Amino acid sequence: MEKICVIGLGYIGLPTSGFLADNGYEVYGVDVNEDVVETLSKGEIHIEEPSLAGIISESIHNGKLKVSTTPVQADIFIIAVPTPVHDNKTSNLDYVKKATESIIPYMKKGDIVIIESTIPPRTIDDIVVPIIKAGGFNPEEDDVYVSHCPERVIPGRIMTELIENNRIVGGYTEEAAKRTADFYRKVVKGQVFETSALTAEMSKLMENTYRDVNIALANELSKVSEKLGVNAHEVVKLANMHPRVNIHQPGPGVGGHCIAVDPYFIIEKANELSPLMQTAREINSSMPGFVIDQIKKITMNIENPTIAILGLSYKGNVDDVRESPAIEIANQLVSADYHIKCHDPYVKQSAANLELFGLEESLAEADVALVLADHNVFKEMDSMVYVNNMKTPVILDTKNCIQDSDEITLYKIGDLGKLKSIR
Ligand SMILES: NC(=O)c1ccc[n+]([C@@H]2O[C@H](COP(=O)([O-])OP(=O)(O)OC[C@H]3O[C@@H](n4cnc5c(N)ncnc54)[C@H](O)[C@@H]3O)[C@@H](O)[C@H]2O)c1
Repeated sequence: MEKICVIGLGYIGLPTSGFLADNGYEVYGVDVNEDVVETLSKGEIHIEEPSLAGIISESIHNGKLKVSTTPVQADIFIIAVPTPVHDNKTSNLDYVKKATESIIPYMKKGDIVIIESTIPPRTIDDIVVPIIKAGGFNPEEDDVYVSHCPERVIPGRIMTELIENNRIVGGYTEEAAKRTADFYRKVVKGQVFETSALTAEMSKLMENTYRDVNIALANELSKVSEKLGVNAHEVVKLANMHPRVNIHQPGPGVGGHCIAVDPYFIIEKANELSPLMQTAREINSSMPGFVIDQIKKITMNIENPTIAILGLSYKGNVDDVRESPAIEIANQLVSADYHIKCHDPYVKQSAANLELFGLEESLAEADVALVLADHNVFKEMDSMVYVNNMKTPVILDTKNCIQDSDEITLYKIGDLGKLKSIR
């Protein structure tokens, strides 16, 4: 069985390492973060993901997974490092470049190199392959096989989707696509499609851009619905009864490492040709401001209002706060001199730049509870928790997840027609 070296042990690389070790491969996980390596070498994990802890603990203890800060010789290298955007929204490929450079001394002829990170179009051709060529290999002649296999799992279901999802394998050459696809076919249940590296890059980016554009449409609807005094949630529900319509849900914006970032990778390569994608980004990025406007309306008659923020992660039931609109809303409220108290049962204090409180502590004496993540615990919460702890049980629900009751005043993004300020 091939020896596999996985570079980057975060939300993608760690589950991938555990999953491959569980399939019997000898896996070497590499991360530049010494704290991550130290935690993992004890059989513990540094991220929240269902079913991950048991698999990592077992594979570390049975020796199938070894972790280190430096790569080792292997037959297959999988690179799963971050691909963020710079402040000016252009891609930052420094991690991909460094990770590719780091494996060169450990590569040999016949090895497969797979980039699982999400990358802008032509990154394999223009960045990854030139680094490998400079390292003395010739991927054009298939002495090593370079491919892009974009990861498309969703946090919260990663361990299931790693096995079940279909995969797109884009090879730098046809032979690279074939060899890489054959490797995935051994371990996944989904179908594995072979194509070029560029097509694989674009396919992944278009999946997330499709989501971003559709979320923008729903968010625009929520703004229009406020002006027209119509309930956007009811509109969406009824319109979606049409067999060819699937309007998404409005919310506080778009977060996470993928949907809020990936459209920029296309936009930077085709700026004049992507007005729809750019407008979608603008609409989704404007939603924190729209939420804050509603808080201002609700609290305009109160001196020094206190806002309880429920949920900081970018979506329900996960701990990930990257690009989270909730964090932006919280920071903007602080800048606007609001007194805020944040609670998120998933987010670790070390991951947030805001002080976190327990649920009741965050609600204590609050004028408004602002719900920014649809965690199950919030969905299932008895409305008396608001009544018993808050100064006034007024809730602004940006995720359409709180159940209404007579004891509370509930406003929703998408249904703001009845909004009144607290007196
Ligand atoms: N998180 C998701 O849900 C998701 C889903 C699909 C695709 N992706 C893509 O997968 C890629 C990885 O994302 P992630 O969420 O796992 O990121 P992450 O930040 O959770 O993990 C990346 C890890 O790589 C490490 N790293 C950085 N440079 C390194 C190097 N040179 N050598 C070794 N380790 C290095 C970091 O220390 C970090 O632990 C990104 O391109 C992302 O867009 C993520």
